[in-house]
Amino acid sequence: MTSPQNIDKLSNTLNEVTVSTSPGSAASSYSSSFGNRRVSFSGSQRSRALKPFSTGDFKILLLENVNQTAIEILEGEGYQVEFHKSSIDKAELIEKIKDVHAIGIRSKTKLTEEILSHAKNLVAIGCFCIGTNQVDLEYAAKRGIAVFNSPFSNSRSVAELVIAEIITLARQLGDRSIEMHSGTWNKVSSKCWEIRGKTLGIVGYGHIGAQLSVLAESMGMNVIYYDVLMIMSMGTARQVRTLEELLSNSDFVTLHVPELPETKNMISTDQFNAMKTGAYIINASRGSVIDIPALVEARKAGKIAGAALDVYPNEPAKNGVDQFNDQLNSFASELTSLSNIILTPHIGGSTEEAQSAIGVEVGTALVKYINEGSSVGSVNFPEVNLRTVTHDEEGNVRVLYIHKNVPGVLRAVNEIFESHNIEKQFSDSSGEVAYLMADIADVDMADIRKLYDQLEATPFNIRTRLLY
Ligand SMILES: NC(=O)c1ccc[n+]([C@@H]2O[C@H](COP(=O)([O-])OP(=O)(O)OC[C@H]3O[C@@H](n4cnc5c(N)ncnc54)[C@H](O)[C@@H]3O)[C@@H](O)[C@H]2O)c1
Repeated sequence: MTSPQNIDKLSNTLNEVTVSTSPGSAASSYSSSFGNRRVSFSGSQRSRALKPFSTGDFKILLLENVNQTAIEILEGEGYQVEFHKSSIDKAELIEKIKDVHAIGIRSKTKLTEEILSHAKNLVAIGCFCIGTNQVDLEYAAKRGIAVFNSPFSNSRSVAELVIAEIITLARQLGDRSIEMHSGTWNKVSSKCWEIRGKTLGIVGYGHIGAQLSVLAESMGMNVIYYDVLMIMSMGTARQVRTLEELLSNSDFVTLHVPELPETKNMISTDQFNAMKTGAYIINASRGSVIDIPALVEARKAGKIAGAALDVYPNEPAKNGVDQFNDQLNSFASELTSLSNIILTPHIGGSTEEAQSAIGVEVGTALVKYINEGSSVGSVNFPEVNLRTVTHDEEGNVRVLYIHKNVPGVLRAVNEIFESHNIEKQFSDSSGEVAYLMADIADVDMADIRKLYDQLEATPFNIRTRLLY
């Protein structure tokens, strides 16, 4: 995008773009609401849309049926969007990636160093999912390609699943349903409970844990939580100081911690022993967090009255009959033979609403990065942002300079800027890569080209973009 040819294109569209007073001439529900949000600065404080070039020249490849919300956002900005319902094969991907400025994928498309090395114009990758291990993040950063994902769009969906599981376990609904499917009528009330007045212990009070806390309280549960951080409670929930304190006081224990070396098998035999007899355990975080053979023993011994699991140490790569078996996880048949054990195939975050929210979150992050340079939310890049440029600042140019993280860069760059007033400047680094954003005042068109060429010629340059 910032190759010399693009700068020529950029020059051709300069007049058209600088007189533009709204973010993109293409009106869409998204761009107008985005515009409205920005014009909440009143009168002359209205923020000005920055465009690197005619947005119609900007090509985005969307694979794997990413949500319609993302397509609307990106098309609303006037970009050329090529949409594919499924992933494409390697040869076709290499051919297409040569040309595009951004790519949107889900989990099937692998963006390895080999594939990314063919990308000439790529500035951003949107992973329309939670995980990003399908992308070579380090190589992407070294090439000046920012990667975005959507880690929290499905928090509510997970919290709602856990609420459902609390009631399902307390009423043994899974077992009753299985029995009815085989014609068995088994009307029992023994060891079936209301959840009102019971204590829910939440381990990990982050995005999901906190949502869950509110829902559980509204159903009359008492909520306690344990987290490595001191976190302000929602409602009347109470933070406890140790995991043991939580385990010994909870009727239901639910896990919402990340997968870390410290959280591997954080619930094992000792922790099950510390739980109240007859309590329940739920894990919709990551499969490594519970020692499942220890859970099997605790259930067999009647220490716990039931469990709900959505995640497993090893998960099948595809849907299908017999995929969840002892070859994959040695405990599978023992686990599935136990009563009051709810097993779901990692669907905690799988709702239409979450998919739609992912489309909005990643689509918006891409637009913010392409149009304004903001890398907030990037997983492989320093997170840098500057406040938006207002209509008062008509002659301003925003410099986006991705460079090697070595000594002497700022001095060299400030020498290039020396005949201009730097309105604002922010720089941050992450590993070998650093990112500098600067707004420079009173730049005329001839200067834009000169600034670009000088920055590109520095020995530290990875990628330079100019927005105006
Ligand atoms: N089942 C699904 O489909 C699904 C969907 C989304 C997220 N998840 C998983 O749910 C988990 C929680 O997600 P989130 O979005 O709430 O994460 P989050 O980062 O918002 O919150 C995690 C919390 O855990 C705390 N924590 C970290 N280490 C801890 C420890 N050793 N002991 C106690 N607390 C600790 C953190 O301080 C933080 O408050 C993650 O593992 C995530 O991968 C699963």
